[in-house]
Amino acid sequence: MNQPFYITTPIYYPNGEPHLGHAYTTLCADVVARYHRLAGDDTFFLTGTDEHGIKMVKTAAERGVSPQQLADQNVAVFENLWKELQITHDDFIRTSSDRHKTGVQAIVQKMIANGDIYKGAYQGWYDEGQEEFVTETEAKTTEYKSAISGRPLVRYSEPTYFFSLKKYIPRVQEHIQKNPTFIQPESRRNEVISKLNQGVEDLSISRATLKWGIPMPHDPDHVLYVWIDALSNYITALGYGAEHAGAERRELRDHSAAPDSSSTPHPPTSPSPNLFEKYWPANVHLIGKEIMWFHVVYWPAMLFSLGLEPPKQVYAHGWWTAEGKKMSKSMGNFIDADRLRAAIAKYGLDGVRYYLFRAAPFGNDLDWKDDELAAAHNELANVIGNCLNRIMTMVPKYRGTLPAAAELHDIDRALIEKIQKLPTDLASAYQRLELQQCALLPIELARATNGYIEATAPFKLAKDPAQAARLDTVLNIAAQAVYASLVALLPVLPDKAAAGLAQMGIDVAGKTLPHLFATPLPTGTQFGQGTPLFPRLEAK
Ligand code: MSP
Repeated sequence: MNQPFYITTPIYYPNGEPHLGHAYTTLCADVVARYHRLAGDDTFFLTGTDEHGIKMVKTAAERGVSPQQLADQNVAVFENLWKELQITHDDFIRTSSDRHKTGVQAIVQKMIANGDIYKGAYQGWYDEGQEEFVTETEAKTTEYKSAISGRPLVRYSEPTYFFSLKKYIPRVQEHIQKNPTFIQPESRRNEVISKLNQGVEDLSISRATLKWGIPMPHDPDHVLYVWIDALSNYITALGYGAEHAGAERRELRDHSAAPDSSSTPHPPTSPSPNLFEKYWPANVHLIGKEIMWFHVVYWPAMLFSLGLEPPKQVYAHGWWTAEGKKMSKSMGNFIDADRLRAAIAKYGLDGVRYYLFRAAPFGNDLDWKDDELAAAHNELANVIGNCLNRIMTMVPKYRGTLPAAAELHDIDRALIEKIQKLPTDLASAYQRLELQQCALLPIELARATNGYIEATAPFKLAKDPAQAARLDTVLNIAAQAVYASLVALLPVLPDKAAAGLAQMGIDVAGKTLPHLFATPLPTGTQFGQGTPLFPRLEAK
Protein backbone atom coordinates (compact mmCIF):
# COMPACT_ATOMS: atom_id res chain seq x y z
CA MET A 1 0.00 0.00 0.00
CA ASN A 2 1.23 3.51 -0.74
CA GLN A 3 2.05 5.39 2.42
CA PRO A 4 0.08 8.55 3.14
CA PHE A 5 2.10 11.75 3.24
CA TYR A 6 0.51 15.03 4.33
CA ILE A 7 2.33 18.36 4.03
CA THR A 8 1.01 21.87 4.67
CA THR A 9 2.10 25.50 4.30
CA PRO A 10 0.92 28.24 6.65
CA ILE A 11 -2.34 29.76 5.48
CA TYR A 12 -1.41 33.27 4.40
CA TYR A 13 -3.07 36.55 5.40
CA PRO A 14 -4.65 37.99 2.27
CA ASN A 15 -4.47 41.55 3.60
CA GLY A 16 -1.77 42.18 1.03
CA GLU A 17 -0.37 40.52 -2.05
CA PRO A 18 1.93 37.50 -1.99
CA HIS A 19 5.69 38.03 -2.17
CA LEU A 20 8.91 36.03 -2.16
CA GLY A 21 8.40 34.87 1.47
CA HIS A 22 5.02 33.30 0.74
CA ALA A 23 6.22 31.92 -2.58
CA TYR A 24 9.28 30.34 -0.94
CA THR A 25 7.34 28.35 1.69
CA THR A 26 4.87 27.24 -0.95
CA LEU A 27 7.59 26.22 -3.43
CA CYS A 28 9.43 24.31 -0.69
CA ALA A 29 6.27 22.40 0.17
CA ASP A 30 5.78 21.83 -3.55
CA VAL A 31 9.18 20.22 -4.08
CA VAL A 32 8.64 17.92 -1.10
CA ALA A 33 5.12 17.01 -2.26
CA ARG A 34 6.41 16.30 -5.77
CA TYR A 35 9.14 14.07 -4.38
CA HIS A 36 6.67 12.05 -2.31
CA ARG A 37 4.25 11.66 -5.20
CA LEU A 38 7.12 10.50 -7.40
CA ALA A 39 8.28 8.17 -4.65
CA GLY A 40 4.83 6.57 -4.87
CA ASP A 41 3.45 7.95 -1.59
CA ASP A 42 -0.20 8.85 -1.32
CA THR A 43 0.46 12.57 -0.97
CA PHE A 44 -1.78 15.42 0.15
CA PHE A 45 -0.48 18.99 -0.06
CA LEU A 46 -2.53 21.76 1.52
CA THR A 47 -2.24 25.52 1.35
CA GLY A 48 -4.74 28.34 1.79
CA THR A 49 -5.57 31.72 3.30
CA ASP A 50 -6.20 33.03 6.81
CA GLU A 51 -8.87 35.65 6.28
CA HIS A 52 -10.12 36.78 9.68
CA GLY A 53 -8.66 39.10 12.30
CA ILE A 54 -7.96 42.74 12.95
CA LYS A 55 -5.42 43.20 10.20
CA MET A 56 -7.96 42.30 7.54
CA VAL A 57 -10.56 44.63 9.05
CA LYS A 58 -8.12 47.55 9.16
CA THR A 59 -6.79 47.09 5.64
CA ALA A 60 -10.31 46.67 4.26
CA ALA A 61 -11.43 49.89 5.98
CA GLU A 62 -8.45 51.79 4.52
CA ARG A 63 -9.39 50.59 1.05
CA GLY A 64 -13.11 51.25 1.49
CA VAL A 65 -14.13 47.61 0.93
CA SER A 66 -15.55 44.93 3.22
CA PRO A 67 -13.14 42.38 4.72
CA GLN A 68 -14.78 39.69 2.60
CA GLN A 69 -14.26 41.76 -0.56
CA LEU A 70 -10.63 42.35 0.37
CA ALA A 71 -10.18 38.64 1.01
CA ASP A 72 -11.84 37.66 -2.27
CA GLN A 73 -9.65 40.08 -4.25
CA ASN A 74 -6.38 39.01 -2.71
CA VAL A 75 -7.17 35.31 -2.52
CA ALA A 76 -7.58 35.42 -6.30
CA VAL A 77 -4.11 36.99 -6.52
CA PHE A 78 -2.61 34.23 -4.35
CA GLU A 79 -4.35 31.51 -6.30
CA ASN A 80 -3.24 32.95 -9.62
CA LEU A 81 0.35 33.22 -8.48
CA TRP A 82 0.30 29.59 -7.35
CA LYS A 83 -0.96 28.66 -10.82
CA GLU A 84 1.84 30.62 -12.46
CA LEU A 85 4.37 28.95 -10.17
CA GLN A 86 2.82 25.57 -11.05
CA ILE A 87 2.27 24.71 -7.41
CA THR A 88 0.79 21.23 -7.13
CA HIS A 89 -1.36 21.67 -4.02
CA ASP A 90 -4.23 19.24 -3.69
CA ASP A 91 -6.47 21.64 -1.85
CA PHE A 92 -6.70 25.35 -1.00
CA ILE A 93 -8.55 26.16 2.21
CA ARG A 94 -10.05 29.57 2.93
CA THR A 95 -10.97 30.32 6.52
CA SER A 96 -14.02 32.26 5.33
CA SER A 97 -15.44 29.12 3.67
CA ASP A 98 -18.40 27.32 5.19
CA ARG A 99 -16.56 24.05 5.43
CA HIS A 100 -13.88 25.66 7.58
CA LYS A 101 -16.32 27.60 9.77
CA THR A 102 -18.36 24.46 10.42
CA GLY A 103 -15.25 22.53 11.34
CA VAL A 104 -13.95 25.24 13.69
CA GLN A 105 -17.27 25.50 15.50
CA ALA A 106 -17.27 21.74 15.99
CA ILE A 107 -13.71 21.96 17.32
CA VAL A 108 -14.59 24.68 19.84
CA GLN A 109 -17.78 22.85 20.88
CA LYS A 110 -15.69 19.82 21.63
CA MET A 111 -13.24 21.85 23.70
CA ILE A 112 -16.18 23.33 25.62
CA ALA A 113 -17.59 19.83 26.19
CA ASN A 114 -14.19 18.77 27.51
CA GLY A 115 -14.24 21.62 30.02
CA ASP A 116 -11.27 23.41 28.42
CA ILE A 117 -12.95 26.77 27.76
CA TYR A 118 -14.14 29.27 30.38
CA LYS A 119 -15.26 32.91 30.41
CA GLY A 120 -13.17 35.64 32.03
CA ALA A 121 -11.74 39.06 31.29
CA TYR A 122 -8.61 39.89 29.36
CA GLN A 123 -6.36 42.81 30.18
CA GLY A 124 -3.12 43.07 28.38
CA TRP A 125 -1.04 43.73 25.29
CA TYR A 126 -1.76 42.63 21.75
CA ASP A 127 0.51 42.58 18.69
CA GLU A 128 -1.92 43.28 15.87
CA GLY A 129 0.57 42.46 13.10
CA GLN A 130 1.20 39.00 14.49
CA GLU A 131 -2.37 38.68 15.89
CA GLU A 132 -0.69 37.65 19.15
CA PHE A 133 -1.12 38.31 22.88
CA VAL A 134 2.05 39.45 24.60
CA THR A 135 2.82 39.10 28.31
CA GLU A 136 3.72 42.13 30.41
CA THR A 137 7.32 40.90 30.75
CA GLU A 138 7.72 40.43 26.99
CA ALA A 139 6.06 43.79 26.30
CA LYS A 140 8.46 45.49 28.66
CA THR A 141 11.56 44.00 27.04
CA THR A 142 10.46 45.21 23.60
CA GLU A 143 9.46 48.64 24.97
CA TYR A 144 5.80 47.88 24.22
CA LYS A 145 6.51 47.39 20.55
CA SER A 146 6.07 44.31 18.36
CA ALA A 147 9.18 42.12 18.34
CA ILE A 148 8.46 41.34 14.68
CA SER A 149 7.19 44.57 13.09
CA GLY A 150 8.34 47.18 15.65
CA ARG A 151 4.84 48.71 15.70
CA PRO A 152 3.36 49.73 19.08
CA LEU A 153 1.49 47.03 21.01
CA VAL A 154 -2.19 47.71 21.65
CA ARG A 155 -3.76 47.62 25.13
CA TYR A 156 -6.81 45.32 25.24
CA SER A 157 -9.28 45.13 28.09
CA GLU A 158 -12.46 43.16 27.49
CA PRO A 159 -14.50 40.09 28.47
CA THR A 160 -13.18 37.01 26.73
CA TYR A 161 -13.23 33.24 26.67
CA PHE A 162 -10.07 31.43 27.66
CA PHE A 163 -8.67 28.12 26.52
CA SER A 164 -7.02 26.15 29.35
CA LEU A 165 -3.62 26.18 27.72
CA LYS A 166 -1.72 25.79 30.99
CA LYS A 167 -3.42 22.45 31.67
CA TYR A 168 -1.81 20.99 28.52
CA ILE A 169 1.65 22.49 28.87
CA PRO A 170 3.14 19.48 30.72
CA ARG A 171 1.94 17.22 27.89
CA VAL A 172 3.30 19.60 25.28
CA GLN A 173 6.66 19.66 27.07
CA GLU A 174 6.71 15.91 27.34
CA HIS A 175 5.87 15.57 23.67
CA ILE A 176 8.72 17.89 22.71
CA GLN A 177 11.14 16.03 24.98
CA LYS A 178 10.16 12.59 23.72
CA ASN A 179 10.14 13.51 20.03
CA PRO A 180 13.46 15.07 19.13
CA THR A 181 12.45 15.62 15.49
CA PHE A 182 9.05 17.20 16.27
CA ILE A 183 10.54 20.71 16.15
CA GLN A 184 13.06 21.31 13.38
CA PRO A 185 15.63 22.65 12.96
CA GLU A 186 17.22 21.80 16.30
CA SER A 187 18.06 25.42 17.19
CA ARG A 188 14.38 26.36 17.12
CA ARG A 189 13.62 23.50 19.48
CA ASN A 190 15.91 24.92 22.12
CA GLU A 191 14.27 28.36 21.81
CA VAL A 192 10.83 26.84 22.37
CA ILE A 193 11.97 24.74 25.34
CA SER A 194 13.44 27.75 27.09
CA LYS A 195 10.37 29.91 26.39
CA LEU A 196 8.14 27.15 27.80
CA ASN A 197 10.26 27.05 30.94
CA GLN A 198 9.45 30.72 31.53
CA GLY A 199 5.78 29.81 32.07
CA VAL A 200 2.66 30.10 29.94
CA GLU A 201 -0.73 31.69 30.65
CA ASP A 202 -4.16 30.46 29.54
CA LEU A 203 -5.03 31.73 26.09
CA SER A 204 -7.68 34.35 25.41
CA ILE A 205 -9.57 32.90 22.44
CA SER A 206 -12.33 35.36 21.70
CA ARG A 207 -12.85 39.04 20.86
CA ALA A 208 -16.05 40.84 21.78
CA THR A 209 -15.04 44.00 19.92
CA LEU A 210 -14.48 42.34 16.56
CA LYS A 211 -17.19 41.22 14.15
CA TRP A 212 -15.03 39.73 11.38
CA GLY A 213 -14.46 36.16 12.46
CA ILE A 214 -16.07 32.86 13.31
CA PRO A 215 -18.70 33.30 16.05
CA MET A 216 -18.10 31.63 19.38
CA PRO A 217 -20.60 28.77 19.69
CA HIS A 218 -23.47 29.78 22.04
CA ASP A 219 -22.20 33.37 22.27
CA PRO A 220 -22.30 35.10 18.89
CA ASP A 221 -21.25 38.42 20.46
CA HIS A 222 -17.74 36.97 20.49
CA VAL A 223 -15.68 35.91 17.51
CA LEU A 224 -12.86 33.42 17.82
CA TYR A 225 -9.26 34.48 18.14
CA VAL A 226 -7.59 34.21 14.77
CA TRP A 227 -4.93 31.61 15.71
CA ILE A 228 -7.52 29.11 17.01
CA ASP A 229 -9.41 29.63 13.77
CA ALA A 230 -6.26 29.49 11.61
CA LEU A 231 -4.49 26.46 13.10
CA SER A 232 -7.67 24.43 12.78
CA ASN A 233 -7.37 24.65 8.98
CA TYR A 234 -4.96 21.73 8.97
CA ILE A 235 -7.77 19.40 10.02
CA THR A 236 -10.91 21.17 8.79
CA ALA A 237 -9.46 20.86 5.27
CA LEU A 238 -9.44 17.09 5.81
CA GLY A 239 -13.11 17.18 6.76
CA TYR A 240 -12.67 17.11 10.54
CA GLY A 241 -15.88 18.37 12.15
CA ALA A 242 -17.75 18.32 8.84
CA GLU A 243 -20.25 15.77 10.12
CA HIS A 244 -21.68 18.53 12.33
CA ALA A 245 -23.52 20.24 9.49
CA GLY A 246 -23.89 20.16 5.73
CA ALA A 247 -20.30 21.06 5.01
CA GLU A 248 -19.53 22.62 1.67
CA ARG A 249 -18.28 20.01 -0.76
CA ARG A 250 -14.96 20.76 -2.17
CA GLU A 251 -12.94 20.09 -5.22
CA LEU A 252 -9.72 18.23 -4.84
CA ARG A 253 -7.06 18.09 -7.44
CA ASP A 254 -5.75 14.77 -8.54
CA HIS A 255 -1.99 14.41 -8.52
CA SER A 256 -1.95 10.66 -8.26
CA ALA A 257 -0.43 10.23 -11.71
CA ALA A 258 3.20 11.11 -11.11
CA PRO A 259 5.33 12.73 -12.32
CA ASP A 260 3.64 15.86 -13.37
CA SER A 261 4.87 19.11 -14.79
CA SER A 262 1.58 20.55 -13.68
CA SER A 263 1.02 23.07 -16.40
CA THR A 264 -2.45 21.66 -17.00
CA PRO A 265 -5.31 22.00 -14.53
CA HIS A 266 -6.06 18.87 -12.55
CA PRO A 267 -9.44 17.25 -12.90
CA PRO A 268 -11.51 17.48 -9.72
CA THR A 269 -12.28 14.17 -8.07
CA SER A 270 -14.96 13.43 -5.50
CA PRO A 271 -13.93 14.47 -2.01
CA SER A 272 -13.18 11.47 0.14
CA PRO A 273 -14.90 11.37 3.53
CA ASN A 274 -11.86 9.61 4.93
CA LEU A 275 -9.23 12.25 4.37
CA PHE A 276 -8.85 12.92 8.06
CA GLU A 277 -8.48 9.24 8.96
CA LYS A 278 -6.03 8.78 6.14
CA TYR A 279 -3.80 11.83 6.51
CA TRP A 280 -3.84 12.92 10.14
CA PRO A 281 -1.37 13.38 11.86
CA ALA A 282 0.35 15.50 9.23
CA ASN A 283 3.89 14.49 8.34
CA VAL A 284 5.06 18.07 8.30
CA HIS A 285 3.79 21.59 8.78
CA LEU A 286 6.24 23.77 6.87
CA ILE A 287 6.30 27.30 8.27
CA GLY A 288 8.43 30.42 8.63
CA LYS A 289 10.39 30.74 11.86
CA GLU A 290 8.25 33.56 13.31
CA ILE A 291 5.19 31.35 13.78
CA MET A 292 6.85 28.36 15.44
CA TRP A 293 5.40 29.01 18.92
CA PHE A 294 1.78 28.84 17.72
CA HIS A 295 2.46 25.59 15.87
CA VAL A 296 4.35 23.72 18.56
CA VAL A 297 2.58 24.99 21.71
CA TYR A 298 -0.97 26.22 20.97
CA TRP A 299 -1.67 23.70 18.23
CA PRO A 300 -0.61 20.52 20.05
CA ALA A 301 -2.48 21.75 23.17
CA MET A 302 -5.62 22.24 21.05
CA LEU A 303 -5.18 18.79 19.56
CA PHE A 304 -4.68 17.20 22.97
CA SER A 305 -7.91 18.86 24.10
CA LEU A 306 -9.63 17.25 21.11
CA GLY A 307 -8.07 13.88 21.89
CA LEU A 308 -6.01 14.01 18.69
CA GLU A 309 -2.34 13.42 17.93
CA PRO A 310 -0.02 16.36 17.20
CA PRO A 311 1.59 16.65 13.74
CA LYS A 312 4.70 14.52 13.32
CA GLN A 313 6.90 17.51 12.58
CA VAL A 314 6.91 21.28 12.40
CA TYR A 315 9.77 22.60 10.27
CA ALA A 316 10.60 26.30 10.31
CA HIS A 317 12.61 27.76 7.47
CA GLY A 318 14.50 31.02 7.68
CA TRP A 319 13.58 34.46 6.45
CA TRP A 320 14.51 36.10 3.18
CA THR A 321 16.17 39.45 2.99
CA ALA A 322 17.13 41.01 -0.35
CA GLU A 323 20.59 42.30 -1.27
CA GLY A 324 21.53 42.18 2.43
CA LYS A 325 18.58 44.19 3.76
CA LYS A 326 15.09 43.58 5.06
CA MET A 327 12.76 43.57 2.03
CA SER A 328 10.90 46.84 1.83
CA LYS A 329 8.97 48.69 -0.83
CA SER A 330 10.56 52.02 0.02
CA MET A 331 14.08 50.56 -0.19
CA GLY A 332 13.26 49.19 -3.64
CA ASN A 333 14.42 45.68 -2.68
CA PHE A 334 10.99 44.15 -2.22
CA ILE A 335 10.73 40.88 -4.13
CA ASP A 336 7.06 40.90 -5.00
CA ALA A 337 5.18 38.80 -7.53
CA ASP A 338 6.32 41.06 -10.38
CA ARG A 339 9.99 40.70 -9.45
CA LEU A 340 9.47 36.93 -9.33
CA ARG A 341 7.82 37.03 -12.74
CA ALA A 342 10.73 39.01 -14.17
CA ALA A 343 13.18 36.44 -12.78
CA ILE A 344 11.10 33.62 -14.26
CA ALA A 345 10.95 35.38 -17.64
CA LYS A 346 14.76 35.49 -17.65
CA TYR A 347 15.77 32.20 -16.05
CA GLY A 348 12.65 30.06 -16.36
CA LEU A 349 10.52 28.79 -13.50
CA ASP A 350 12.88 25.88 -12.89
CA GLY A 351 15.88 28.21 -12.83
CA VAL A 352 14.23 30.27 -10.09
CA ARG A 353 13.20 27.15 -8.16
CA TYR A 354 16.76 25.89 -8.26
CA TYR A 355 18.11 29.22 -7.01
CA LEU A 356 15.66 29.37 -4.10
CA PHE A 357 16.37 25.83 -2.92
CA ARG A 358 20.13 26.01 -3.26
CA ALA A 359 20.44 29.52 -1.75
CA ALA A 360 21.15 28.31 1.82
CA PRO A 361 20.97 25.17 3.95
CA PHE A 362 17.27 24.67 4.64
CA GLY A 363 16.25 26.37 7.88
CA ASN A 364 18.83 29.17 7.62
CA ASP A 365 18.01 32.77 6.74
CA LEU A 366 18.45 33.57 3.07
CA ASP A 367 19.40 36.60 1.02
CA TRP A 368 18.15 37.26 -2.52
CA LYS A 369 20.96 38.45 -4.76
CA ASP A 370 20.48 39.02 -8.47
CA ASP A 371 24.02 37.88 -9.24
CA GLU A 372 23.53 34.63 -7.30
CA LEU A 373 20.35 34.00 -9.25
CA ALA A 374 22.36 34.40 -12.46
CA ALA A 375 25.12 32.17 -11.06
CA ALA A 376 22.58 29.44 -10.20
CA HIS A 377 21.38 29.51 -13.81
CA ASN A 378 24.95 29.28 -15.06
CA GLU A 379 25.58 26.34 -12.77
CA LEU A 380 22.63 24.49 -14.30
CA ALA A 381 23.83 25.35 -17.81
CA ASN A 382 27.47 24.43 -17.16
CA VAL A 383 26.91 21.31 -15.14
CA ILE A 384 23.77 19.33 -15.98
CA GLY A 385 23.04 21.23 -19.21
CA ASN A 386 26.57 20.72 -20.45
CA CYS A 387 26.85 17.04 -19.67
CA LEU A 388 23.47 16.26 -21.21
CA ASN A 389 24.61 18.17 -24.27
CA ARG A 390 27.83 16.21 -24.54
CA ILE A 391 26.01 12.89 -24.34
CA MET A 392 23.35 14.01 -26.80
CA THR A 393 26.09 14.93 -29.27
CA MET A 394 28.51 12.04 -28.79
CA VAL A 395 26.19 9.04 -28.71
CA PRO A 396 24.46 9.72 -32.04
CA LYS A 397 27.71 10.90 -33.63
CA TYR A 398 29.93 7.98 -32.61
CA ARG A 399 27.46 5.13 -32.23
CA GLY A 400 23.96 6.04 -33.49
CA THR A 401 22.25 4.49 -30.47
CA LEU A 402 23.36 3.85 -26.87
CA PRO A 403 26.10 1.19 -26.86
CA ALA A 404 26.42 -1.47 -24.16
CA ALA A 405 29.24 -1.09 -21.63
CA ALA A 406 32.15 -3.48 -22.03
CA GLU A 407 34.90 -4.16 -19.48
CA LEU A 408 34.88 -1.75 -16.51
CA HIS A 409 37.87 0.25 -15.29
CA ASP A 410 38.25 1.76 -11.81
CA ILE A 411 37.16 5.18 -13.04
CA ASP A 412 33.94 3.65 -14.40
CA ARG A 413 33.28 1.81 -11.16
CA ALA A 414 33.76 5.03 -9.19
CA LEU A 415 31.08 6.80 -11.24
CA ILE A 416 28.76 3.79 -11.09
CA GLU A 417 29.09 3.84 -7.32
CA LYS A 418 28.00 7.49 -7.29
CA ILE A 419 25.00 6.67 -9.51
CA GLN A 420 24.01 3.84 -7.19
CA LYS A 421 24.31 5.97 -4.07
CA LEU A 422 22.15 8.80 -5.36
CA PRO A 423 18.66 7.33 -4.68
CA THR A 424 19.41 6.59 -1.02
CA ASP A 425 21.21 9.90 -0.44
CA LEU A 426 18.31 11.70 -2.05
CA ALA A 427 15.70 9.83 0.00
CA SER A 428 17.56 10.69 3.17
CA ALA A 429 17.88 14.37 2.19
CA TYR A 430 14.13 14.57 1.52
CA GLN A 431 13.37 12.68 4.70
CA ARG A 432 15.39 15.21 6.71
CA LEU A 433 14.12 18.10 4.57
CA GLU A 434 17.61 19.14 3.59
CA LEU A 435 16.19 20.88 0.56
CA GLN A 436 19.47 22.45 -0.45
CA GLN A 437 20.96 18.96 -0.66
CA CYS A 438 17.94 17.75 -2.62
CA ALA A 439 18.87 20.29 -5.30
CA LEU A 440 22.64 19.85 -5.08
CA LEU A 441 23.03 16.04 -4.91
CA PRO A 442 21.95 15.45 -8.52
CA ILE A 443 24.07 18.39 -9.67
CA GLU A 444 27.09 16.90 -7.89
CA LEU A 445 26.61 13.68 -9.85
CA ALA A 446 26.41 15.70 -13.07
CA ARG A 447 29.60 17.54 -12.07
CA ALA A 448 31.35 14.22 -11.48
CA THR A 449 30.11 13.08 -14.89
CA ASN A 450 31.66 16.09 -16.58
CA GLY A 451 34.92 15.22 -14.80
CA TYR A 452 34.57 11.63 -15.97
CA ILE A 453 34.08 12.71 -19.58
CA GLU A 454 37.13 14.94 -19.41
CA ALA A 455 39.26 12.21 -17.82
CA THR A 456 38.17 9.42 -20.20
CA ALA A 457 38.18 11.74 -23.26
CA PRO A 458 35.69 9.89 -25.50
CA PHE A 459 36.44 12.38 -28.33
CA LYS A 460 40.00 11.00 -28.39
CA LEU A 461 38.87 7.37 -28.02
CA ALA A 462 36.63 7.87 -31.04
CA LYS A 463 39.68 8.50 -33.22
CA ASP A 464 41.29 5.16 -32.36
CA PRO A 465 39.52 2.03 -33.69
CA ALA A 466 41.43 -0.08 -31.12
CA GLN A 467 39.53 1.78 -28.38
CA ALA A 468 36.06 0.98 -29.70
CA ALA A 469 35.04 -1.13 -26.68
CA ARG A 470 36.39 1.47 -24.29
CA LEU A 471 34.39 4.18 -26.04
CA ASP A 472 31.21 2.07 -25.73
CA THR A 473 31.77 1.76 -22.00
CA VAL A 474 32.45 5.44 -21.45
CA LEU A 475 29.42 6.54 -23.45
CA ASN A 476 27.15 4.12 -21.64
CA ILE A 477 28.31 4.96 -18.12
CA ALA A 478 28.26 8.72 -18.75
CA ALA A 479 24.75 8.47 -20.21
CA GLN A 480 23.55 6.44 -17.20
CA ALA A 481 24.93 9.11 -14.87
CA VAL A 482 23.19 11.95 -16.73
CA TYR A 483 19.99 9.93 -16.71
CA ALA A 484 20.18 9.33 -12.93
CA SER A 485 20.94 12.97 -12.28
CA LEU A 486 17.93 14.10 -14.34
CA VAL A 487 15.64 11.58 -12.62
CA ALA A 488 16.78 12.89 -9.23
CA LEU A 489 16.09 16.45 -10.41
CA LEU A 490 12.44 15.76 -11.31
CA PRO A 491 10.96 17.21 -8.09
CA VAL A 492 13.24 20.27 -8.19
CA LEU A 493 13.16 21.04 -11.92
CA PRO A 494 9.96 19.32 -13.04
CA ASP A 495 9.89 20.72 -16.57
CA LYS A 496 13.59 20.79 -17.38
CA ALA A 497 14.35 17.36 -15.96
CA ALA A 498 11.43 15.79 -17.83
CA ALA A 499 12.53 17.60 -21.01
CA GLY A 500 16.11 16.32 -20.61
CA LEU A 501 14.88 12.79 -20.08
CA ALA A 502 12.60 13.10 -23.12
CA GLN A 503 15.69 14.00 -25.19
CA MET A 504 17.22 10.78 -23.93
CA GLY A 505 14.16 8.87 -25.14
CA ILE A 506 12.52 8.45 -21.74
CA ASP A 507 8.91 9.43 -21.12
CA VAL A 508 8.49 9.88 -17.37
CA ALA A 509 4.68 10.18 -17.31
CA GLY A 510 3.15 7.83 -14.78
CA LYS A 511 6.50 6.44 -13.61
CA THR A 512 7.78 6.51 -10.04
CA LEU A 513 11.28 7.39 -8.89
CA PRO A 514 12.01 3.87 -7.61
CA HIS A 515 11.03 2.50 -11.03
CA LEU A 516 13.06 5.08 -12.94
CA PHE A 517 16.14 4.63 -10.74
CA ALA A 518 15.90 0.85 -11.02
CA THR A 519 15.59 0.94 -14.82
CA PRO A 520 18.80 2.16 -16.44
CA LEU A 521 18.77 3.48 -19.98
CA PRO A 522 18.44 0.44 -22.22
CA THR A 523 21.19 -0.37 -24.67
CA GLY A 524 20.11 0.63 -28.16
CA THR A 525 18.17 3.70 -26.95
CA GLN A 526 17.68 6.17 -29.74
CA PHE A 527 18.20 9.71 -28.50
CA GLY A 528 15.93 12.48 -29.70
CA GLN A 529 16.75 16.03 -30.66
CA GLY A 530 19.42 17.54 -28.40
CA THR A 531 18.55 21.13 -27.52
CA PRO A 532 20.23 23.02 -24.68
CA LEU A 533 18.14 22.77 -21.50
CA PHE A 534 19.46 26.04 -20.13
CA PRO A 535 20.29 28.24 -23.10
CA ARG A 536 22.96 30.86 -22.50
CA LEU A 537 21.51 34.29 -21.95
CA GLU A 538 22.41 37.08 -24.32
CA ALA A 539 24.83 39.49 -22.64
CA LYS A 540 23.19 42.90 -22.21
N1 MSP B 1 -1.77 33.61 8.83
C1 MSP B 1 -0.57 33.34 9.54
C2 MSP B 1 -0.23 31.86 9.49
C3 MSP B 1 -1.29 30.94 10.02
S1 MSP B 1 -0.84 29.27 9.84
C4 MSP B 1 -2.00 28.41 10.68
C5 MSP B 1 0.57 34.13 8.91
N2 MSP B 1 0.37 34.56 7.64
S2 MSP B 1 1.41 35.41 6.77
O1 MSP B 1 0.73 35.83 5.57
O2 MSP B 1 2.00 36.44 7.56
O3 MSP B 1 2.49 34.41 6.30
C6 MSP B 1 3.56 34.10 7.08
C7 MSP B 1 4.41 33.08 6.34
O4 MSP B 1 4.88 33.61 5.10
C8 MSP B 1 5.68 32.76 7.10
O5 MSP B 1 5.48 31.77 8.08
C9 MSP B 1 6.56 32.29 5.99
O6 MSP B 1 6.16 30.99 5.65
C10 MSP B 1 6.21 33.24 4.87
N3 MSP B 1 7.03 34.48 4.89
C11 MSP B 1 6.59 35.76 4.94
N4 MSP B 1 7.65 36.60 4.84
C12 MSP B 1 8.79 35.89 4.76
C13 MSP B 1 10.15 36.19 4.46
N5 MSP B 1 10.61 37.41 4.36
N6 MSP B 1 10.99 35.15 4.27
C14 MSP B 1 10.56 33.85 4.28
N7 MSP B 1 9.30 33.55 4.51
C15 MSP B 1 8.43 34.51 5.04
O7 MSP B 1 1.57 34.30 9.57
